[in-house]
Order: sequence, then C-alpha cells, then structure tokens
Amino acid sequence: MNSEKGRLLKINILRFDPHIKGDKPRIETFEIEEAPGMTLFIALNDIRQHHDPSLKFDFVCRAGICGSCAMIINGKPGLACSTLTANMDSDISLAPLPVFELIGDLSVFTGNWMRSLNNRLEAWIHQHEELNIDQLEQRMEPELAEEIYELDRCIECGCCVAGCGTIQMREEFVGAVGLNKIARYQIDPRDERSDSDYYELVGDEDGVFGCMTLLGCEDVCPKNLPLQSRIAYLRRKMLEIGLKSNTEVCSC
Ligand code: SF4
Ligand code: SF4
Ligand code: FES
Repeated sequence: MNSEKGRLLKINILRFDPHIKGDKPRIETFEIEEAPGMTLFIALNDIRQHHDPSLKFDFVCRAGICGSCAMIINGKPGLACSTLTANMDSDISLAPLPVFELIGDLSVFTGNWMRSLNNRLEAWIHQHEELNIDQLEQRMEPELAEEIYELDRCIECGCCVAGCGTIQMREEFVGAVGLNKIARYQIDPRDERSDSDYYELVGDEDGVFGCMTLLGCEDVCPKNLPLQSRIAYLRRKMLEIGLKSNTEVCSC
C-alpha cells in the first residue's frame, strides 16, 4: 500500500450567496490533501464532503462535455473537471464566472443567458419547406460536415463570455459564443437565411463590429474552437455585405 502523503492544497474560494439575507462576499480557505489524478472537481467534492456541505458548485458530466463546471481558476476561466491540481501551485483561487447570474458561491446560471442568446440569434436551421421525415437525408461533402461539426463542438460553458472585455462593458454584445454560432449556421447549406439576414443579426456593435479581437476568448476556450479565424471571417463577410448594401442604397 502506498502510504505517501499528497501535497497539502490551500483552496481559496470566493463565497457569497445572494439568496441568503445579510450574506457578504468573502474568501474562505480550505486545506485538503492532494490525491493522485485529482481534478478541481474532485477537490471541491472533497471540501463539500469533509469540510462544508453548503458549498455550491455545478457539474454534470465530469468529462469536459456539459460545460457546467466552468469557473474562474487562478484568475482565468476554465473547467474544474478538466483541471488537474498536479499542474497547479498548491495555493489555488476559485471564483464564480462573472457576467452570469450568481446562484451562490461557484454556481452561476449560464442557461438563461445562453437561451436568450440562442433566441436572439435564432440559432437553429431555417428552412422554408416543411420537414418531410420520409425524405432521404440531405447529402453533404464530408469536408463541409467536418467544418460544421468543428464549430458545433461549443459546450456553452461561458468561459469565453467571462474572458471577454467587451461583454463586461456592453451587456448586449453576443460574444465569441454567439459569433461562433452564426459562423456555424452561415456555412450550413441547409440554413436558407440570406447574407442580409445574418447581417441583421450580427452586423453591428453588439455583434461582430463590437469585437475588439484581443482574443481572450480563444485563449480560454476549453474546446479549442477556432474562434479567432471564425470571427475574422465573419467580420470580413459582414463588412462586405454592409458595404454592398450601402452602395445599393446610395445613388450618388
Ligand atoms: S476577441 Fe472579441 S469576442 Fe473574443 S474576447 Fe475579444 S472582444 Fe470578446
Ligand atoms: S466557444 Fe468555447 S469557451 Fe465559448 S462557450 Fe463555447 S466552448 Fe465555451
Ligand atoms: S462537469 Fe461537465 S464540463 Fe465539467
């Protein structure tokens, strides 16, 4: 039996529950022994089990798939379930993601933010014809299917939102997550929306022209989505559409 003791981890957590009357934001420090292969998710469970059962944090899949466990880890957004404590100093700071509604401690409500974004951007395939379930599947070139799949890997974790300076200043800004969604539908031949429909959705300061391209989003995206190239592509595309429609309106 291996009796070697693990490192002592000091986990400093920003605690605050807006639903408890009189509660005040504070840092609470918990000391736990590091176990082999420990992730922050496991560490948080240890704290909840052995130190404070009232600690709030979210998780579902524990495998970097559902996006629920996103939080600020040592000042940077990331997923607790994919972060190994072995790769970190023994002094660790955790805080909830900003921008989203705080449920309590490390738990935030990303769902309503993402739902309202999806509604606003109409993030679904738009087709005029009614769906015929007897029809054969529409064929698509594998390269294009691959390209769409690549952008569809977004897990709506909110890390890019939390890492985006523009969203902190401009509440309505759709962020990298929103621009990535538009890029995904714009290349999908099954979506019959026109270029000007997309321009209506993101051709302004709350869309692609509000983005400062500092790329904090790409740096923190746990799924390594190609946000930089997609935002650059969308910006060029929207600029082209905007210039074209201005030239058509202007008769001088
Ligand atoms: S590049 Fe744009 S979307 Fe990404 S963090 Fe910067 S402002 Fe936000
Ligand atoms: S784009 Fe990346 S960081 Fe942003 S919500 Fe999707 S998976 Fe998370
Ligand atoms: S628990 Fe699902 S991504 Fe971490």
